[in-house]
Amino acid sequence: MCEKYRIAWLPGDGIGNDVMEAAKIVLDRVELNAEYIHGDIGWEFWRREGDAFPDRTVDLLKSVDAAMFGAITSKPVKAAEKELVPELQGQGLVYRSPIVRMRQLFDLYICLRPCKAYPKNPLNYKEGIDIVVFRENTEDLYAGVEFNTVPDKLRDTLSELSPPFKTFKGLKSDDYAISCKINTKKGSERIVRAAFEFARKFGRKKVTVIHKANVVRATDGLFFETAKTVAKDFPGITMDDANIDAMTMWLLKNPFNYDVLVAPNLYGDIISDLSAQMVGGLGFGCSANIGEKLAVFEPSHGSAPKYAGQYKVNPIATILAAKMMLDWLGENARAKAIEDAVASVIAEGKARTYDMGGSSTTLELARAVAEKCTVASKA
Ligand code: NAI
Ligand code: MG
Repeated sequence: MCEKYRIAWLPGDGIGNDVMEAAKIVLDRVELNAEYIHGDIGWEFWRREGDAFPDRTVDLLKSVDAAMFGAITSKPVKAAEKELVPELQGQGLVYRSPIVRMRQLFDLYICLRPCKAYPKNPLNYKEGIDIVVFRENTEDLYAGVEFNTVPDKLRDTLSELSPPFKTFKGLKSDDYAISCKINTKKGSERIVRAAFEFARKFGRKKVTVIHKANVVRATDGLFFETAKTVAKDFPGITMDDANIDAMTMWLLKNPFNYDVLVAPNLYGDIISDLSAQMVGGLGFGCSANIGEKLAVFEPSHGSAPKYAGQYKVNPIATILAAKMMLDWLGENARAKAIEDAVASVIAEGKARTYDMGGSSTTLELARAVAEKCTVASKA
């Protein structure tokens, strides 16, 4: 008998609800011994409480084995302020993306995004693509150190310290904005090591380090130099590298040259959408946010408000995220049953959502996957 897992269940906004309902059908089918505990997150909680990631949800995440997350809606700071209930307006509340906060608060430093072309998916860019993206998840341009209105003191300090900054000297505080790109040795080291360890564990041959060290010399230079040092601990695995801009071109031109990719936060975000598109689009992009104590699994798409509640969108990304959760929990047989079922449904081509050219609903596709999850998986 395995233990009873405690899983936080965070559907969030828009289609987050549709696809999480679909994933639950599949998890129920493989009879994971789990308690699923709902957590409040997203836009409604921002509007009504001024916090899209309330403390009670933070506490829930401290008490669970893993979490499944749907998607949230984010809006620019000023638009977000306007949507607060009248009692909360004018209090200086600032909207911050709850998923970015969650990643930082729980130090979920690995963002793992496998992009596999399941055979006969009509949306595959090419059959046989199998790329795994490791995106640093807590720092870089997403560090959250940003100034919409730049304090004069900061401008003056920058002018003194940095010769190119003199160009901005005459600017008034709200004539410009600053978002800091912060990369640490520790943050770079641990994401690159995670990518190499994954490559070693799963018999992958190559890790490609993505950066822009020729221009963004300080931060990306540090990332790249750290990566080269880490690579020395993995003599059996080839390391190569590419600038982010060239990488988008190479990935489209020669997708079979790539195996495991590792990148700082922003480049990893960009490259993972491109990689997802090569294997069918956002409806196939699954994602894991992994730290030492907690892991949160999600589709990489957003809340797609125009489809919210219509049960039209593709649930496969979220079903594959649930599969990743099972692997992380050590429930590998159940995980494999789900992945095999997804592959079989895709190849069969009978249940397909609109993005795949079909007319199945989100839940019909999930039921088709559930039906193919073999009983042996429940052992
Ligand atoms: P989105 O990912 O929500 O949707 C973009 C388009 O992709 C959709 O209109 C739809 O055509 C397609 N799409 C997305 N998921 C699909 C699925 N499962 N099946 C089939 N087609 C799918 O991105 P968008 O429209 O830029 O953002 C909407 C909201 O989501 C914004 O508020 C944004 O900030 C938020 N967002 C949240 C994320 C998260 O929760 N992790 C990630 C990305 C965006
Ligand atoms: Mg993204």
